[in-house]
Amino acid sequence: MDFRFEIIADYLPLLLRGALVTIAISAASIVIGSALGLVVAWGKLSANFAARYLASGYIHFFRGTPLLVQILLVHFGIVYVILGKTDAMIAAIVALSLNSAAYTAEIYRAGVQSIDKGQTEAARSLGMTHFQTMRFIILPQAIKRMIPPFGNEFIVLIKDSSLVSIIAAQELMYWTDAFKGQYLAVWEPYLTAAFIYLVLTYSFSKLLNYVERRLQTS
Ligand code: ARG
Repeated sequence: MDFRFEIIADYLPLLLRGALVTIAISAASIVIGSALGLVVAWGKLSANFAARYLASGYIHFFRGTPLLVQILLVHFGIVYVILGKTDAMIAAIVALSLNSAAYTAEIYRAGVQSIDKGQTEAARSLGMTHFQTMRFIILPQAIKRMIPPFGNEFIVLIKDSSLVSIIAAQELMYWTDAFKGQYLAVWEPYLTAAFIYLVLTYSFSKLLNYVERRLQTS
């Protein structure tokens, strides 16, 4: 076996373009997923029985079924029914966002519940309303604690977005498979893809560490 660097050089532009699409899909999904996750967490913490029940069902479904199956359901099911055609990019972002919402909902819930109850009691006994307690006492502390798990969620999305290559969304893994098909090579495409994913996740985790350290001192 000889490792052909020249075919990597040939294909690199397409792989890098795929990496940009990977970043775009992951970024869009963490943003949409976090917004949706907020709604789910609100349902989960709500005093309303139906809202709690729905939110729990949502979280169970998306954490308890394979992401790959969810991607296929969204692509050939939901997106096809709504748009009347398939669109891999939309399906990729919708599926990853729906999945991520279940995980971020739990991050919000854990963050809020991690703040000692005594603080709520103290704030309420000082005459603060529920809203004021949340806004000025609980959330400023909870949000700081949520940043590391949100960073991890983004890293998971970068890696798991590789699954959307199955519906031909043109991200890094899609171009890696094309590379493999064109040159009938194995090591060159897959090792290059692994290396690019590693660069993405490693640099993001370094950035995250830096942000965490800054927050600790503030
Ligand atoms: N690997 C999991 C699966 O195939 C997906 C996990 C998604 N995790 C996340 N934090 N968004 O089902």
